[in-house]
Amino acid sequence: MTKRVAILISGGGSNMVALADSMTGGHPARPCLVLSNNAGAGGLEKAAARGIPTAVVDHRPFGKDRPAFEAELTRVLDAAQPDIICFAGFMRVLTEGFVARWHGKMLNIHPSLLPKYRGLHTHARAIEAGDAQHGCTVHEVTPELDGGPILGQAELQILPDDTPESLAARVLPLEHRLYPEALRRFATGDRSRFTLT
Ligand code: GRF
Repeated sequence: MTKRVAILISGGGSNMVALADSMTGGHPARPCLVLSNNAGAGGLEKAAARGIPTAVVDHRPFGKDRPAFEAELTRVLDAAQPDIICFAGFMRVLTEGFVARWHGKMLNIHPSLLPKYRGLHTHARAIEAGDAQHGCTVHEVTPELDGGPILGQAELQILPDDTPESLAARVLPLEHRLYPEALRRFATGDRSRFTLT
């Protein structure tokens, strides 16, 4: 049975594009919705150009009422009936209530070698720490921010002249290879951890 995948974005959606474009032929999943909290997200046009249904749930009218925002997200998601939800540059923190509703169906990509550097500014923090290696991680989403079971990682060497910007630019193509592979495995029921080679 083909798995239905909803992808949540807040910006350009380059990871969404990589995921959507990977779901072809014999792939066990297909995109069913691209959902953003930002009506101006560039990824929405890219999704529409691919014939993928899109929706926007703007978080701003809800103010600090996260549960109300998430209840609307869930209403829109319920209509699309996803088997899997991929967060791809989605920049809103989720409450335990939302995670409980979709538990076991959610993946996220994070631009660091978790458990190192949960949260923001990961590339700058890796450089400042003098790390030799950096990379990205796909993990299952749990109530702990960037703390769920790791499904896959991709690594690269930090170069002496790397800046946070140049490092981010070298990590992003790794994300575009890692996330589709992690989704394909997850969609077949394979939760074993892997390192992209
Ligand atoms: C990426 O670095 C991703 O790791 C992070 O958001 C950034 C932008 O992603 N979660 P995208 O281009 O919007 O997919």
